[in-house]
Amino acid sequence: MDPDRDGQILELGPGTGPVTEALIERGVPEERLLLIEYNPGFVTLLRNRFPRATILQGDAYNVRGVLHGVLDTPLAGVVSSLPLLTQPVPRRVRLLRHCLALTQPGAPFSQFTYSVAPPIPLLTIGDANAEGSPVVWRNIPPARVWTYRLPSA
Ligand SMILES: C[S@@+](CC[C@H](N)C(=O)[O-])C[C@H]1O[C@@H](n2cnc3c(N)ncnc32)[C@H](O)[C@@H]1O
Repeated sequence: MDPDRDGQILELGPGTGPVTEALIERGVPEERLLLIEYNPGFVTLLRNRFPRATILQGDAYNVRGVLHGVLDTPLAGVVSSLPLLTQPVPRRVRLLRHCLALTQPGAPFSQFTYSVAPPIPLLTIGDANAEGSPVVWRNIPPARVWTYRLPSA
């Protein structure tokens, strides 16, 4: 995520907030963070931990509904730790499509995954492009970050 890109950054599945904290440490102002978390206990914890962020309780796969009336301008990026691999491929593809439609062209949708293969298969992503990070072997289990973007205008 580029802290210098204007706009809000959306995090899907923040849990207790380790990625949120890393984004703030990277220089993203807390006020520019939008979080969607399903678990009400985590939502309460996150609201205490990040009082200046916007924290929404809801189903990230319904991102358009949850963000309805919340967004004024396209997002500067999306970061997801949702357990995507538990979902059927069409649901993953729809999530990516809906998120990229809410995001500035060229801005990232980044997904953590324990799979070596892209969690949203390359044949399904249309005009978007995808880039995988090297495998982080020191993570247990080893993990990668896949980043999808629409081409810049
Ligand atoms: C693997 S944990 C990651 C938590 C944290 N980001 C981390 O890196 O430690 C996945 C998180 O996604 C949340 N989650 C799962 N399905 C969700 C959904 N459909 N909508 C929103 N959050 C969801 C879970 O409640 C959990 O907090």
